[in-house]
Amino acid sequence: MTKKLYIKTYGCQMNVYDSERMSDVLAAQGFAPTEVAEDADLVILNTCHIREKAAEKVYSDLGRLRAAGGPAGRLIAVGGCVAQAEGVEIRTRAPFVDIVFGPQTYHRLADMVERATRGQAVVETDFPTEAKFDHLPTATGQRGHTAFVAVQEGCDKFCTFCVVPYTRGAEYSRPAGAILDEIRALAANGVREVMLLGQNVNAYHGAAPEGARGPAGDWTLARLARAIAEIDGIARIRYTTSHPRDMGGDLILAHRDLPQLMPYLHLPVQSGSDRILKAMNRKHTAEDYLRIVDRLREVRPDMAMSGDFIVGFPGESDADFEATMRLVERVDYALAYSFKYSPRPGTPAADLEDQVPDEVKSERLQRLQDLLSSQQRAFNASMTGRRLPVLLERPGRHAGQMVGRSPYMQAVVVDAPAEAAGRMVEVDIDTVNSFSLNGRITGGEWLPTGITTAGDSRIAASAGVVS
Ligand code: 5AD
Ligand code: SF4
Repeated sequence: MTKKLYIKTYGCQMNVYDSERMSDVLAAQGFAPTEVAEDADLVILNTCHIREKAAEKVYSDLGRLRAAGGPAGRLIAVGGCVAQAEGVEIRTRAPFVDIVFGPQTYHRLADMVERATRGQAVVETDFPTEAKFDHLPTATGQRGHTAFVAVQEGCDKFCTFCVVPYTRGAEYSRPAGAILDEIRALAANGVREVMLLGQNVNAYHGAAPEGARGPAGDWTLARLARAIAEIDGIARIRYTTSHPRDMGGDLILAHRDLPQLMPYLHLPVQSGSDRILKAMNRKHTAEDYLRIVDRLREVRPDMAMSGDFIVGFPGESDADFEATMRLVERVDYALAYSFKYSPRPGTPAADLEDQVPDEVKSERLQRLQDLLSSQQRAFNASMTGRRLPVLLERPGRHAGQMVGRSPYMQAVVVDAPAEAAGRMVEVDIDTVNSFSLNGRITGGEWLPTGITTAGDSRIAASAGVVS
């Protein structure tokens, strides 16, 4: 009888990727996924430690899981960054947890499950010397037309508010050859869009593929993107999350040269005040950041920006906060995430005096979010009347509809049959709602009957598919 596996994923896209890979590892052990936690023989919570709220949620979910019960012999595992940060402590607060494992150990999950089944309490939070990626099955499972590909993991930047360098460990870049092989296999399975993932993805510096032309040594993310753009079938490349310090000239120029690189970049700045940026150990100024944004828009005028902000970092004055508001006005974000500063145990900023009172944080967050949402609304509204390339992904809510993504990750609803999934089409946008854009297909790799123009032939050419 197959055993059932339920994974709940918290936090970032790297965790989403990790959960998929855990599921791959366990599939080889006879575990099939289920959507119902109570039916599962193995429940994994893949956790996030970035802010206090995210970490606390794990404990309340654990309580609920325990109360709901499950099949006899059911195992509960806590993975991810809370597991890494709290280790055996988790078993003090929740003794019914069978397995605690950090983000660098999940290639060993089969062994951990086997030991737990024998009644052993398993806690694995070391950073193993072998690289996890070399011990994972190749990710070729067909999961639609877009895929996450981890290219880099960990962080050496040590921003003073952040737990990532402690929970994910030092920066590691996968060799370029392994990444290209994986993407070729994904493309052969119908994947058209890849999201390259890393905590510091633009710091990527992986070993060049054997026999690669050009200078030996490491490849940058720009070099990697150029090679990915040559893979047949790959129509879109995205990457996240980037740091302003690593936004090199070659990467900016790749945005000019590669139509596959989407004109939408998540580039967190956190604050617009140089004093706060310094205290955060960001190692750049607000002006440095603005220069990068200007340069990106020079080479790709349709470049839209997304970002992250923290309000109420220790010592943040009204004037510092106003500097953040000014930066946001200047950049004009398509989308941004903003958070109240949350002191994380073990990080330098948690020990700083001058912590900002919660009411002040709330007030600032409200003002910032009001500004960011008005920018987001204006950005979406500006799509009306535009012609956008859309990658069709899945059936829509109504029969005969498909939903795809714009270059800016907006959901776009069009009339098209399910067979059109995976095609790149051009869509004329008619209306904009809060959650999606609506339009008509006017060209690309699939055409409604009655339309005969091939539209923008560049789309088909770059994707290697002729409509
Ligand atoms: N408090 C609040 N926000 C944080 N982030 C990271 N650490 C903290 C913290 N201690 C935010 C940053 C980062 C995003 C992933 O989470 O904005 O870019
Ligand atoms: Fe955290 Fe800074 Fe590293 Fe990003 S760059 S993961 S914010 S320490």
